[in-house]
Amino acid sequence: MALQVLNLKAENYKRLRAVDITPEGNVVFIGGRNAQGKTSVLDAIWAALAGGEASRATQQPIRDGQDSAVVSLDLGDMKVTRRWTKDDSGTLIVEAADGARYSSPQKVLDQLIGARAFDPLAFTRQSARDQVATLVSTVDLPFDPDELERERKGVFDRRTEISREVAKLEGQLAGYPSADPSLPDAEESVADVLAERERARANNEMYDRATAAEKRLLAEVDELEEKLREKMSDLALLQAAALQLDQPVDLAPFDERLANIEATNARIRQQQHRVAVASELAERKGQAAQHTLALMAIEKRKADALAAVEFPVPGLSFDDSGVTYNGIPFAQASAAEQLRVSVALAMAANPTLRVLRILDGSLLDSASLETIAALAAEHEYQVWIEVVDETGGVGFVIEDGEVRS
Ligand SMILES: Nc1ncnc2c1ncn2[C@@H]1O[C@H](COP(=O)(O)OP(=O)(O)O)[C@@H](O)[C@H]1O
Ligand SMILES: [Mg+2]
Repeated sequence: MALQVLNLKAENYKRLRAVDITPEGNVVFIGGRNAQGKTSVLDAIWAALAGGEASRATQQPIRDGQDSAVVSLDLGDMKVTRRWTKDDSGTLIVEAADGARYSSPQKVLDQLIGARAFDPLAFTRQSARDQVATLVSTVDLPFDPDELERERKGVFDRRTEISREVAKLEGQLAGYPSADPSLPDAEESVADVLAERERARANNEMYDRATAAEKRLLAEVDELEEKLREKMSDLALLQAAALQLDQPVDLAPFDERLANIEATNARIRQQQHRVAVASELAERKGQAAQHTLALMAIEKRKADALAAVEFPVPGLSFDDSGVTYNGIPFAQASAAEQLRVSVALAMAANPTLRVLRILDGSLLDSASLETIAALAAEHEYQVWIEVVDETGGVGFVIEDGEVRS
């Protein structure tokens, strides 16, 4: 069911005394001088249809000095009559074509009128953020843009933290001397080296004693020729024992190591720390890369989802900064493009009640008016346009709350 306004009657609504308008064609001009009641005509249509929101916006719907106001709309398959009275909240009657009254009239109307009583020019003046909200309300998004943005920001913030740690660790690493492959992995023990040295020293002492004894014995050999046989066996034993021992060992390296051991161990510790920092750096870099991938995945998810959404106008989409048209910010589209898009959006938002209103018609040049007329004809919409006009030759001319005859 597609509805348009076939007839509008309004009495005492705002500036209006009594008007009776039967429009023809897809574009309905409401003309006249300032403050004669043009906006009141357009408001009367929306006030009759919309419930709470429209009535709250108009504090005094009844013309000054009157007790009641009434607006009747003939929508073809449906007739709407709303009455405002001074003393109560007023009445709303919605009748089907056969005259039967609906029992929940406002609910019936709520289903007819779009998510917003759409004024296309109002869309072009909305903030970038509100334009996105308007656009999103006309399509089925497979994701919640706010939630996705929160998720993206969470990952982004975490990556920023990690990157900060990466920079810190890199700075720390730069402060260490470069790696020395000749250093042992673990610190050396003073006690171990002392023990080793002691063994070597004992060996040397015994070696010295043994050689001294050998010399003495060899000297005695000449004198003690007669004792040679028994002494020879002693000697043999002694030589065998001497064979078990190492050659004399140089003690200087031990002393040198001992002299340097603290400095060396300090370098070893430093090198161990360096290895730990390098490994943490590698891990953090890996984490940062993972977060970068996660961010890219979110962007891709969003891009894929957006690519799949069917916007009411081809080329229309949105990004973080607002609505875009053919990839360019909507505010940078030409005036004609903005108008076409806004009208198409308004049509998409009001698929059943095919009535749009433009309050600032005086801002439109003839090309824009032609564009709107063409769109209205093509999609079978009725566009009510308010135009300030002093010639008295444009559309229904409103004068002092009435249609000038
Ligand atoms: N309830 C009312 N009773 C009497 N006059 C009203 C009422 N509401 C608004 N007006 C007057 O109507 C005029 C504005 O009407 P409007 O329909 O906006 O005119 P237009 O769009 O032709 O400029 C103002 O002068 C305002 O004071
Ligand atoms: Mg006006």
